[in-house]
Amino acid sequence: MLGNDDWWRDAVVYQVYPRSFADANGDGMGDLEGVRGRLDYLAGLGVDAIWLSPFYTSPMADGGYDVADYRDVDPMFGTLADFDALVADAHAKGIRVIVDLVPNHSSDQHPWFKSGLRERYIFRDKPNDWESIFGGPAWTQVEDGQWYLHLFAPEQPDLNWDNPDVRAEFRDVLRFWLDRGVDGFRVDVAHGMIKAEGLPDVGPKDGPQAEMLGDEQVPYFDQDGVHDIYREWRPILDSYPGGRMAVAEAWVSSPERLARYVGPDELHQAFNFDFMMADFHAKSFRTVIEKALKEAELVGAPTTWVLSNHDKPRHVTRHGGLARARAATLLMLALPGSAYLYNGEELGLPEVLDLPDELRQDPAFLRRGESRDGCRVPIPWSADPGCGWRDPWLPIPAEWTGLSAEAQEDDPDSTLNLYRAALRIRKRHPALGGASSGTLTWLESAKDVLVIERDPGLVVVLNTGEEPVRLDWTGQVLLSSGPLETDGSVPPDTAIWFQR
Ligand code: GLC
Repeated sequence: MLGNDDWWRDAVVYQVYPRSFADANGDGMGDLEGVRGRLDYLAGLGVDAIWLSPFYTSPMADGGYDVADYRDVDPMFGTLADFDALVADAHAKGIRVIVDLVPNHSSDQHPWFKSGLRERYIFRDKPNDWESIFGGPAWTQVEDGQWYLHLFAPEQPDLNWDNPDVRAEFRDVLRFWLDRGVDGFRVDVAHGMIKAEGLPDVGPKDGPQAEMLGDEQVPYFDQDGVHDIYREWRPILDSYPGGRMAVAEAWVSSPERLARYVGPDELHQAFNFDFMMADFHAKSFRTVIEKALKEAELVGAPTTWVLSNHDKPRHVTRHGGLARARAATLLMLALPGSAYLYNGEELGLPEVLDLPDELRQDPAFLRRGESRDGCRVPIPWSADPGCGWRDPWLPIPAEWTGLSAEAQEDDPDSTLNLYRAALRIRKRHPALGGASSGTLTWLESAKDVLVIERDPGLVVVLNTGEEPVRLDWTGQVLLSSGPLETDGSVPPDTAIWFQR
């Protein structure tokens, strides 16, 4: 059933943020058994794979992206035996499993850091001018006066990838999880591990360094040396059967730079965040789609599409409402390549904007005032007042009972059933599945409207304008993100899949 080595090329991958997904033991924190208990839901949704955000041993200074043991499960999420059971059950249901790998930094509670293996980190007598992505200086001083580098929180010291022991350890960590049957890795901060020789200052600038990353190169990201690491890793992935893959989280300055992470001797994919960051407008979508497809052609691998993840406000809120989010989803799921969904987007969850400050846990909030907690609120499963959770780690808004999976289950117009229908059609339609050539054609359209044809015969219409759009073809609407006008026109903020 899981035979196809190229499965990732057009896969729909569902991101599970473990502490917010499903709680089997009732402690208010999601866990691996919770995920296992929802595999039927995920199979029914129609996803090809899940990507698990970190569930490793962690003091949770950054939601688990601060790893204290790369080869174990934190007790709050379960045990290695729970992990093995999850992989076995997922595979039995035809769902692959991707895990997060966090190689740029460990936790300060990792035994290497605690036991003073300083050569595995980046210690200096004096700091330079680098700033943490979460705000404030990227250096913290220890008792003997030395400083260590942390591009993120102080609890996340950067590892020294010039040290051969660090490299050997991570090759071994890859094998550890591959041996347990994982189908791939999502590589966290994949552009970060190598820093420019001599750690030069960034120099004068007009705002926080974190805001410069999109425009130009900083000496701590996207250095040529990271590619050597991926060239070391790729043969390891290729030495396992069944199509083991890796996808890079790399925030770099251009699609050309992003394309350098992908190829037969490096990683299989890189997240295309331009699509996620695009405004809900025909023109901005078209610009990023054209760019991404050009890059995909260059590297000979289809691109990835993302609308939401655990680091950005949910797209219902970013795009300005549920109707738009549903329309953007139909656009995304009709594009050539693979799509990454974020848990809860299939329920149409909005960003939670009014969490009390004292409950927020994101280190970025504590240092910079910007919080990612609003997209990490636990998933509402049932229509009872607790939404199926007892004392969840972040409070679930009372009105989410109506958005719960249970409340949406039998409603044919629910967002959950829109996602199910879209994934079902995507799987069997010859224009969308693995049989397609990965190309698309832009058809002529009115202003503020996108019309795309996927061969054979599938037309996607997205109306981001203010007037309804009339359809000139004969054929049949396969799926619509919302109700059409009585004459069949596509209203504003609506997308359709049309068979002609
Ligand atoms: C990545 C993760 C983010 C985390 C950061 C540091 O960007 O997606 O959640 O805070 O890396 O590990």
